[in-house]
Order: sequence, then structure tokens, then C-alpha cells
Amino acid sequence: MRQDVFTIIDNRRVSPDTYVLTLSGNTSGFRSPGQFVNVSVPGFFLRRPFSVMTWDSEGFQIMYKNAGHGTDAMTGLKQGDSLDVLTGLGNGFDLDRSGKQPLLIAGGSGVSPIYCLAERLTGNGIIPTVVMGFASSENVVMEEELRAMGCRVVLTTEDGSSGIRGLVTDALAISEEYTFVYCCGPLPMMKAVSEKIFTDGQFSFEARMGCGFGACMGCSMMTARGTKRVCKDGPVFGLEDLVW
Ligand SMILES: Cc1cc2nc3c(=O)[nH]c(=O)nc-3n(C[C@H](O)[C@H](O)[C@H](O)COP(=O)(O)OP(=O)(O)OC[C@H]3O[C@@H](n4cnc5c(N)ncnc54)[C@H](O)[C@@H]3O)c2cc1C
Ligand code: FES
Repeated sequence: MRQDVFTIIDNRRVSPDTYVLTLSGNTSGFRSPGQFVNVSVPGFFLRRPFSVMTWDSEGFQIMYKNAGHGTDAMTGLKQGDSLDVLTGLGNGFDLDRSGKQPLLIAGGSGVSPIYCLAERLTGNGIIPTVVMGFASSENVVMEEELRAMGCRVVLTTEDGSSGIRGLVTDALAISEEYTFVYCCGPLPMMKAVSEKIFTDGQFSFEARMGCGFGACMGCSMMTARGTKRVCKDGPVFGLEDLVW
């Protein structure tokens, strides 16, 4: 884990309630997709955790939904502002388990770590299928970027305004072909996916966090191997660990 001050390069709205924040600074703490950062939002005591969407040697991006007081304040951050961020948190996805034909499944703000994973997999010459689910067409984010990366993208919306009408699980009928599943999204979605897939997989969880680095037990979750901390032992857990 590192604590650094980053400079905001851009804070761009990409859907009615979702923003992409681009920051420059020291990214030497970043190791794998699925890791998260913990942002100190000016005026708030507790940091806010967000998955890393992209990173390189110059900086990184997160994609955040305006979901409450802290994220609402973040929408007002401007180019040139400074932000104190803890980086390199959590375990991240294991790319070595992907096989040749991985299936990536994302719901809502779960798109962010899945996008990061897709970028690394395609960089390694592996073309994943990405199934993404949203409430409606106006909430769809990163679809074009994932297609441009070379991913096979299957889009679902609950109201049918874009792609297949329904939930991501309605688009999983062909899952026997896949070598490994990576999933991030709301809890009911991940539970439904875990019951429908034919292969092994990894699932990324969100939990309310205190410290974000393993010291307070505030993010404890029951697994098949006992109580684990989402921030330190996760946020990515294997299918074999999950107790719903
Ligand atoms: C590992 C991890 C990765 C995440 N990645 C993303 C992401 O990429 N994009 C995104 O939009 N959101 C992500 N979240 C959820 C995000 O942290 C919350 O939406 C955000 O903290 C809400 O803050 P708020 O002040 O606006 O909400 P408020 O409800 O005002 O927050 C009050 C408190 O509850 C906590 N809290 C509220 N909702 C959540 C939540 N879902 N998870 C954890 N803590 C919460 C806040 O951190 C804060 O301490 C992630 C959460 C975790 C744990
Ligand atoms: S948030 Fe403190 S141990 Fe996870």
C-alpha cells in the first residue's frame, strides 16, 4: 500500500450519474486489475473505496457513481485539484487462471474492474467475452471502448432499451464454452451468476469499509474458509470460497 497525492487531470460525466476521474501521480503501488484505491474526499473523515479502471506509469482512472454525499462532492472536483489516495489495495484478479476463452461479467459500477481486467487480458493476446448489464440504455458505459479493445461484448438492459432485454444471467446460456469466469456487480447478480456458470471463477465484492487496509475488521465477510476481510483478503474471492 502507498499513500500519495495525485493531481486531477479530468473529471468527466459518462452517463447521467456516473463519472470517470483521471489522476496523475505515482502508480508504483498498482499490481493487478481488481485492486482498489481509497480516496480521501475533502471534508469527509472516512475514505471512499473505488476499483481501478485503468492505470499506466503516469496515472490512473476510476469510474464512480454519484451514490451519496462523498461521491456527490467528488463530482465537483476540478482539473488541477489535489487528492490524497491510498493505492495498491486488495488482491485483484488472477490473470493466470483465465485460460484462452474467459468470460467477464459486469453489472453497474462493476464495469470498472472488469474493464481493467479486459485491458490486461487483451494486452496478453486473450480476447474475452464481456457480458455487461445495466438498468437502461442511458446507463450503459464503456461498451464502445471494450469493443474497440477487441472484446466480444454482450449487452443487457433491464428495460430492453439496448441489447438483450433482461439481466446478465439471461445472456449466459452458452457458458459451457468458457475457460474461466470473472465477475463484479451487485450481490444478487453475482449470486445468480455463481449458480448458473459451468466453470471455475473469481468474484469481486464491495463492502462498507473503515480503514481499507486490514486493520479494523469493518469489512468482514463469511467465506468457506472462515471470516475474511474484503479489503485485505479480497475484494476478489474464488467461487470455492463463496457462502451466500
Ligand atoms: C472494493 C470496492 C470497490 C468499489 N468500486 C467502486 C467503483 O469502481 N465505482 C463505484 O461507483 N463505486 C465503487 N464502490 C462503492 C463506493 O465505494 C461507494 O459507492 C461510495 O463509497 C459511496 O460513498 P458516498 O459518500 O457517496 O455514499 P454514502 O452513502 O454517503 O457513504 C457513507 C459511507 O458508506 C460507505 N459506502 C456507501 N456505499 C458503499 C458501498 N457500496 N461500498 C462500500 N462503502 C460504501 C462510504 O464509503 C462512506 O463511508 C466500491 C466499493 C468497494 C468496497
Ligand atoms: S476496512 Fe478495515 S479491515 Fe477492511
